[in-house]
Amino acid sequence: MAKMQAVRFHSYGAPEVLVLEEAPRPQAGAGEVLLRVHAAGVNPLDWKVRAGHLKEWLPHRLPLIPGWDVSGVVEAVGPEVTAFKTGEAVYGMLDFNRQGAYAEYVAARTGELARKPRSIDHIQAAAVPLAALTAWQALFEVAGLAPWHTVLIHAAAGGVGHFAVQLAKWKGAKVIGTASAGNASFLRELGADEVIDYRSTRFEEAVGEVDVVLDTMGGDTQQRSWKVLKKGGILVATLGISSPVAAREHEVRGQGVSVHADAAQLIQIAALIDAGDLKPAVTAVLPLAEAARAHELSQAGHVRGKIVLQVGN
Ligand SMILES: NC(=O)c1ccc[n+]([C@@H]2O[C@H](COP(=O)([O-])OP(=O)(O)OC[C@H]3O[C@@H](n4cnc5c(N)ncnc54)[C@H](OP(=O)(O)O)[C@@H]3O)[C@@H](O)[C@H]2O)c1
Repeated sequence: MAKMQAVRFHSYGAPEVLVLEEAPRPQAGAGEVLLRVHAAGVNPLDWKVRAGHLKEWLPHRLPLIPGWDVSGVVEAVGPEVTAFKTGEAVYGMLDFNRQGAYAEYVAARTGELARKPRSIDHIQAAAVPLAALTAWQALFEVAGLAPWHTVLIHAAAGGVGHFAVQLAKWKGAKVIGTASAGNASFLRELGADEVIDYRSTRFEEAVGEVDVVLDTMGGDTQQRSWKVLKKGGILVATLGISSPVAAREHEVRGQGVSVHADAAQLIQIAALIDAGDLKPAVTAVLPLAEAARAHELSQAGHVRGKIVLQVGN
């Protein structure tokens, strides 16, 4: 059986359970392509899976290769594949139930992929899919964000947040973001109209009424967000709604978002990137061998934009 280098873990645990080792090289099944991975994006999902926090929701068979954001080149196409050809550069978000992309090769379903944006390299492209799709689906599918809306984006400097700021701006909405003071100029450059330093200011005292809240923090941040919404407004949460009662009491809606692969949206996102309307911010690029370090950084909760693992050179 052909082999490859991959980062895997054989038991749930701390970042040190990640090991770079030889693993079986996957093959493209029907409706799938085999990708030569150039870069794998790192998301909080990766360390949550590794730590075992999601094992009930996502029961994986171990050993597992984590990492479900990928940019690479089609090495081989499986039966019934007409959408992609060998040698094409693609990016996408893989099925969380399957083996991930911290590896030299990964098998992907065609519906999870689109052609890589031409104007950016594989490192930048791997930073995009999961976080940009989440921002897109939260703002446009769930919240129905409109140009006349004001949106409050929590953790605006993070993976989801920094795409959400740019997408909301592109839509024409007024954007308020929360971040620590050191990220204020970063967010203004991305188009935020107002930035609130959550460490020195209670956002609910600084924000007027908004139409939409994008909440990627949950907990106390979510609890304090209900009161900033206009009646009939909506809070969209990436970590679920902890108190549907609070939403009802404030006469607003609260809804969770669960990101799903969508090739058509990836095509639109690539077009926005190539038009200069959307830009991933990659703050750290690490080799596969430093996947544990990447997880430590992500887990600390203060990454600006994205971390990406470079595969090969
Ligand atoms: N449901 C879904 O489908 C879905 C999809 C994507 C993500 N998620 C979840 O959503 C969460 C966010 O994901 P992500 O990729 O955006 O995370 P991330 O990139 O790790 O977020 C890091 C950012 O959070 C900011 N932050 C930390 N504490 C904050 C606070 N109290 N107020 C405001 N900002 C704060 C940090 O800014 P400072 O450095 O300035 O503090 C940093 O820029 C994760 O828990 C992830 O698992 C869920």
